[in-house]
Amino acid sequence: MLERHCILVGMPGVGKTTIGRRLANRLGAEFVDLDAVIETEIGCPIRTYFEHQGEAAFRDIEARLLERALAAEPPCVLSTGGGAVLRAGNRQAMHQLGTVMYLRSSPEHLARRLRNDTKRPLLQVDDPLKKLKELYAERDPLYREAAHYVVETQRGSVATVVGHIAMQLDLMRA
Ligand code: S3P
Repeated sequence: MLERHCILVGMPGVGKTTIGRRLANRLGAEFVDLDAVIETEIGCPIRTYFEHQGEAAFRDIEARLLERALAAEPPCVLSTGGGAVLRAGNRQAMHQLGTVMYLRSSPEHLARRLRNDTKRPLLQVDDPLKKLKELYAERDPLYREAAHYVVETQRGSVATVVGHIAMQLDLMRA
């Protein structure tokens, strides 16, 4: 049983949703994908919302629904969008109310994984690798600030990463 929410943060395309779902399964906990919760609330894809309402409006909804997810019981595995760490209030709330795992990967690796992506509004640009490098430079310190633990995801399979996180959660409880 989870004692606190296990919150996954990290760059777009790092595998927060895939890893989160598998981890929840292994732990017998509920899995909550914050981006999916947001899409249900706004009633359209995040990309469409970004295009019509802008990023600031999206961040307001993201902060509100993150707060709601963190207040919910019982503890769950929560995957967040890559920009959820941008607001200091979000970082503090996640750190206080959950165990935060930063799934880390390099911009080059992420660019390979995301080369056919059409869903992520921030990456619909001519040079996605350049954009990922900029996002990484800005956000890597923020992910580290929010996190209790950094998980390298570049080399391991999904199963390896899930096993690593489960072991770390056990150790942290000890
Ligand atoms: C965003 C990442 C997306 C989504 C939104 C904004 C970001 O989630 O929340 O498009 O700012 O990096 P993923 O990390 O699941 O791609």
